[in-house]
Amino acid sequence: MLLLLLAVLFHDGGSEDGFQGPTSFYLIQITSFANSTWANFQGSGWLGDVQIHGWNSDSETPIFLKPWSKGNFSDEEVSEMVEIFQLYQTGFLREVREFADQFQMEYPFEVQATGGCELRPEGGTKSFLRGALGGVNFASAQNRSCAPAPEGGWRAKKFCDLAKQYQGIREAIEKLLLKDCPRYLLGVLDAGKADLQRQEKPVAWLSSGPSPGPGHLLLVCHVSGFYPKPMWVMWMRGENEQRGTHRGDVLPNADGTWYLRVTLDVATGEAAGLSCRVKHSSLGGEDIVLYWGHPISTGLISLAIIVPASLLLIGLALRFMRRWSYNGIL
Ligand SMILES: *[C@@H]1O[C@H](CO)[C@@H](O)[C@H](O)[C@H]1NC(C)=O
Repeated sequence: MLLLLLAVLFHDGGSEDGFQGPTSFYLIQITSFANSTWANFQGSGWLGDVQIHGWNSDSETPIFLKPWSKGNFSDEEVSEMVEIFQLYQTGFLREVREFADQFQMEYPFEVQATGGCELRPEGGTKSFLRGALGGVNFASAQNRSCAPAPEGGWRAKKFCDLAKQYQGIREAIEKLLLKDCPRYLLGVLDAGKADLQRQEKPVAWLSSGPSPGPGHLLLVCHVSGFYPKPMWVMWMRGENEQRGTHRGDVLPNADGTWYLRVTLDVATGEAAGLSCRVKHSSLGGEDIVLYWGHPISTGLISLAIIVPASLLLIGLALRFMRRWSYNGIL
């Protein structure tokens, strides 16, 4: 059932210089088989790291997450695709259950698959299809045929042998991956251009994390609300990047922007003078730099405390001196 990988040449429209944003479209399928009668089928469609399709497996209908999710496909073409995926869901669940015994599958198990196409830097596109079992590579499409992954063991070999017999399904998958996918990718990248190539500036702030140990501080630099995903954040001392900088995962915000947390473990006495530097395409070369124990803000805080305190002291002193001098006079 799974197979292939082949480059398709088509008219110039590939990655232009300076192209920003996603360059691939792919579907992800995750199916959990709890027992012989119950399975959870999840499907989604992605442009790079942006999800543009969901799938309601109960009603077997797509969820278009963006106004431009259909790309340049006509309603008729979309209906045709939806019909294919409906057949696929039903067929997939049926076949896996049917072959579960032969493949000595023990419930529960999980099947994952991804397939799609991407623009190549040199022009044209490249298609791919891969399957995994319980998070471990199982088989992939290579040169239009099924290649078992070594980690897949005898089951993957048997699966690829079996796949040879499904001529009709192979041809349908080849058409989807080599013809429909590249055409859809170009259309949807164009339809969603304004959204996909937008630039959202990050907001950054500092905090201290849980103490890594006695005499140590965990400095945390938070960066949030940025798009696109590529982001550079580093703890610095002057112009020197601090090698102990630890970068977290880039996590999604609910509004489609990203969040990143970058930490540094330092001895308490060495925190002063450190800064967090943020570089992002949206900032146009104007990096955000935040200083730990910022001189301006600590300066303002001390002014706010010292000035009233000194005024109070001066007032008290004056009063005291006055009384003292009166005492002297009287
Ligand atoms: C199959 O799994 C589902 C979900 O965990 C459960 O609700 C159901 O009772 C199970 N059925 C059988 C026959 O074990």
